[in-house]
Formats: sequence, C-alpha cells, structure tokens
Amino acid sequence: MLLRAFFLVYNIKRNGSGIMILPDYKEAKQRTSKTVLREEYNIDKDLKSLGKGKTYYVKTYGCQMNEHDSENIKAMLEQIGFTEVDDYEKADLVLLNTCSIRENAHNKAFGFLGRLKHLKEEKKDLIIGLCGCMAQEEGVVDEILHKYKFVNFVFGTHNLHRLPYLIKDNMTTSKQVIEVYSKEGNIIEGMPVKRENNYKAFVNIIYGCDKFCTYCIVPFTRGKQRSRDKDDILKEVEELVKEGYQEVTLLGQNVNAYGKDFDYKYTMEDLLEDVAKTNIPRVRFMTSHPWDFTDKMIEVIAKYDNIMPSVHLPVQAGSDRILKLMGRRYTKESYLELFNKIKNTIPNVSISTDIIVGFPGETEEDFEETLDLAEKCKYDNAFTFIYSPRENTPAAKFEDNVTLEEKEDRLHRLNEVVNKYFLENNKKLVGKTVKVLVEGKNTNGKDGYFGYTDTNKLININTTKDYTGKIIDVKVTDAKTWSLDGEIDE
Ligand code: 5AD
Ligand code: SF4
Repeated sequence: MLLRAFFLVYNIKRNGSGIMILPDYKEAKQRTSKTVLREEYNIDKDLKSLGKGKTYYVKTYGCQMNEHDSENIKAMLEQIGFTEVDDYEKADLVLLNTCSIRENAHNKAFGFLGRLKHLKEEKKDLIIGLCGCMAQEEGVVDEILHKYKFVNFVFGTHNLHRLPYLIKDNMTTSKQVIEVYSKEGNIIEGMPVKRENNYKAFVNIIYGCDKFCTYCIVPFTRGKQRSRDKDDILKEVEELVKEGYQEVTLLGQNVNAYGKDFDYKYTMEDLLEDVAKTNIPRVRFMTSHPWDFTDKMIEVIAKYDNIMPSVHLPVQAGSDRILKLMGRRYTKESYLELFNKIKNTIPNVSISTDIIVGFPGETEEDFEETLDLAEKCKYDNAFTFIYSPRENTPAAKFEDNVTLEEKEDRLHRLNEVVNKYFLENNKKLVGKTVKVLVEGKNTNGKDGYFGYTDTNKLININTTKDYTGKIIDVKVTDAKTWSLDGEIDE
C-alpha cells in the first residue's frame, strides 16, 4: 500500500541498478491543503566517515535562498568527513547548486558542467553532483540522463537533507543516482549550517511560493508556500544573537506571505516584531510581494529601530496591461500608493525593485509606463532583466513579437533612468553620518574597509582601524552610482 502511494506521487524510473525519482511538472504544479509536517534532521552514524580524507567544492548560482542552501550543504558534507577547498580542480567532490530563474543561469551551469567533464576525463574518481532549482526541471534532468552521464548524482530543492545518503548510494553502486521530489515534503529542522559570514546570517522563514506569476518558474521549482514554525525561527535568531551576529535576513521567495498557511493568526508583522524583540542589532527581510504588504507591516518596520529601513519591492512592470498578463495582482496606481505609504511612514527608507523588460507583447507604450514608474519611484537600487521564457510557465506560451534588439534597447534605456537615481540618491547622503556594519577589508584593491549602511548601501571606509563586525558611525564623503565613500570621525 505504502509503495503504491509512493509510485503515485513520484515519477519513478529504473536504470538497471536502482530506482530514480525524476521531476514531474504536473505534480509540482499541484497545491494541496495537506498539512506540512516538521521533521528533525538526523543521519545514520555509519555515514559520518563517508568523505574522510576527501575534499569538496560547492559552486552556487542564483539567489540568497540558494546561497543559504549551500551553507547547509557544506555543513552536511563536513559532517560526513569532507573538507572544503577553494579550487574545484583540487576537489574530490564538486557540487553545483543551480538556479533556473533565467536562461543565462542555465547556460552558466551547463558551461561549468562542460569544464567538469574534461576534468573527470583526467580524474576518474571525481564525484560530480547537481542540485537546486535546475534539478527540478524535467528537461534538465532528461538532458543529464542522456548527455551528461558523467554526473554522479542529482537531487532537488525538497530533499537537501538526503545528500549524505545519495553520495553513499553513488559510492556503493557506482551508478548515476537521481532523486528529485516534485512535491515538497516535511519542513526539515536542525540541519547543520556553515555560515559564510560571521556577522550577517540568513534565516529561512518561508519556503516556496503560491503566486504563480506567469513568467516565473519558482512555484514549480520551490513548491507550495509553507512557513517555518515561529518558535524554530526565534530560537535560531536567539542563538545567533548569543553568538554575536549583528544582522539577520529573513528569507523567502515571498516573505510577507509568512503565516498565511497556518490555521491560526500569526503573520509577517507578528514575526517581524518578535524577531526585533530578540535585540539582534539589524533585521532585514526579502523578498516582498506588493500584494501581501500590509499597513501593519509598514508600522512595525517604522516602530523598531533594529528593523532596517530598507525594502525590496519588486514591481516588474509599469503597464497595467502587462502587470495583468504577468498575474501580479496590482496596478501601477495601487503599487504607487503602497510605495508612497512606505516612503511616508518609514523615516529614511530606501526602496529597491526588480523590473522585467520585453515581456511577450510589450509595446513601446507599455514600456514607457515602466520608464514613467521608474522616474516616479526614483529607486535606490533596481535589478533589471530581459524577459526569459521558462519551460512550462504560462508566459512561455504567449505570443512574443518583441525582437531581441528592441528588448536590449529597452533594458539600456531603463538602466539609464534607474542609474541616474541611484547616483542622485547617493549624492544626497554626502556630508551625512550613517550607521555602517563593517564587514572587512576592501576587496577592490584599495586600502580601508567596507560595510553596508542601514539602508543597504555599500560603503568604502577610508580608515586603517579595523572595526570588522561592529556597527559604527561613518561620515559620507563621496557618492558613486553603486557605492559610497566615507570616513570615521576619530
Ligand atoms: N525572465 C526574466 N526575469 C525574471 N525574473 C523572474 N522570472 C523571470 C523571467 N522568466 C526576475 C523577476 C524576479 C527576479 C528574482 O527575477 O524580476 O523578481
Ligand atoms: Fe516568482 Fe516572486 Fe511571483 Fe513567486 S511572487 S511567482 S517567486 S516572481
């Protein structure tokens, strides 16, 4: 009976040596009201020496969720005996944690796989793994099965915690192991983590997304929206405070949907307030969907000094027609209303955004609405993209009569507008004193240190004193488009 249920849920194939679980879009698209359970991470003792004497290299593509997943992956690899090296050519195991958001992320990962193929011709024992969002795509896994047979194992975003077992399966059978769940399973708590930064930490609060914007592959690759238990989140933040962390970023594909899947009332504003009360010096959160941004949330951000005045509020487009085709659930006018409410309620707030140009059928008039919105919002930062069709998303089937040349021209024109305001906003800070969390020595070849302001702006500090890990006052001396220069009143 159990086995029957298992076969119904997963797309299972045999490769002569064992079972492979392949991604299935139909499964990935479904949303059920089934309660998501919480499960504690645990591995068998006999796995702990699996990688003894061996080294690993993890290559991460994509967003902060992926970066944070890699922090879990690295810690799991170390738990089973592997040690990290910073050159993939020297590693015994290379793992690619991939991103599917746009075509170029795909191309980069396949490019790297090409290099690994050559390396494996010289180093027969090299173990190569692929995980992350690309592993959730039917087309990608099919290609790996047929064209990239040298890849030893593949797993998806829903079964990170199975990594030690998959490596063991591959080592013992010498066969390609593919285990991708199309449906999210339980929320796994207590996974080990190797944090990349000693002062700033990522904390997952919600997994998946149920918005299904028509251009976006995330609801398929990351599954149904499911929030972590608040007690688990608060415990994690409290531990970080004890360890001396200065900043947490609460992470989710759509953070302000937090708690909407609970059968009791506890949502993003409640969580933000409770996290602020742990007295962690800085709280950030990303990414927010305008549709889920409540007035109460704005009030909470304004009320607590340790919730940073910095909001990432993706708009995607300025034309109501395109917003509707994208399935974004707001109009230019209602977005601007929210934008102004945030600006007027949170002192000194900086707002950043994401914008897509060249969505299928976008006309010059539609694009001009986007330019107009960028002029009105004068964003502090904006990530701008050319629309990239993603396998199995509704927009990929829309008729697209906009040429690549036009799309590139629009991206260029949009960038000119947004860049102008980055510089203008930065210039307003010259002569002012800002709070900066110092992260370390400059990496751009210049003397001095760098850090981030409360509004999340990069600042290079002209000092010989090491304040790494501290939040200090810095006087802004100069402004560039993407960074500030500053000095310390000593
Ligand atoms: N093409 C281009 N950009 C995309 N994004 C998401 N999907 C696509 C796509 N298919 C952008 C959105 C999102 C950001 C993370 O990536 O702007 O907010
Ligand atoms: Fe993708 Fe964000 Fe839309 Fe979710 S809300 S579908 S992650 S763009």
